[in-house]
Amino acid sequence: MLIQVINGTTREGRFSERIAHWVLEFGRQYEGVEFELVDLRDHPLPFFDGAAPMWTPRQYADEAVARFGRTVDRADGFIFLTAEYNHGYSAVLKNALDWTYAEWHRKPASFVGWGGVGGARAIEQLRQVTVEFEMAPLRHAVHIAPEIYLPARDQADPTDTAVFAPAEPFLKLLADDLLWWAGALRAARTAS
Ligand SMILES: Cc1cc2nc3c(=O)[nH]c(=O)nc-3n(C[C@H](O)[C@H](O)[C@H](O)COP(=O)(O)O)c2cc1C
Repeated sequence: MLIQVINGTTREGRFSERIAHWVLEFGRQYEGVEFELVDLRDHPLPFFDGAAPMWTPRQYADEAVARFGRTVDRADGFIFLTAEYNHGYSAVLKNALDWTYAEWHRKPASFVGWGGVGGARAIEQLRQVTVEFEMAPLRHAVHIAPEIYLPARDQADPTDTAVFAPAEPFLKLLADDLLWWAGALRAARTAS
């Protein structure tokens, strides 16, 4: 089982790296499941200007898009890590999504957000968009509110995950539920 952790921010000094580290460390407890980081910094893509991928599935415009599409294609489920920029999720994430389509189909999507309201508005937007990709957006999410975000952002050691301990029960709920859906939908995809 392969769960991809999609880091949706790329700016200098981003907080998302701390969240990614925490989620990936947490994932190590699940035997038989690989949690893999997909960092959009490693997938610099042009602004979307191609043919609609929903009509041209897996016909990639260039090698960077192909590498991103083939990466997503391998996954059984996703954890989107999302900031909130002006009450929405990042443009770089939307751009990456728009270059692809079928690669996400019939796979579950879950969300970890941060910010003033724990990334809630960005996550709600992402839920709407993932439906169009025929993903199954899940109820459980982790909202990192300022009580955790601020000390986590300011701590010297970015790899010290103790600051996230109060959010860990919510991450467990998310992961357990995601793995149930990922297994069920993988079996169904294989059967059909
Ligand atoms: C352009 C911009 C817009 C932002 N807008 C919001 C917002 O609408 N709501 C919010 O809670 N935080 C907002 N913030 C603060 C972010 O939550 C905070 O900077 C967070 O660390 C962003 O994630 P990142 O560091 O991984 O990019 C904004 C930050 C930036 C840079």
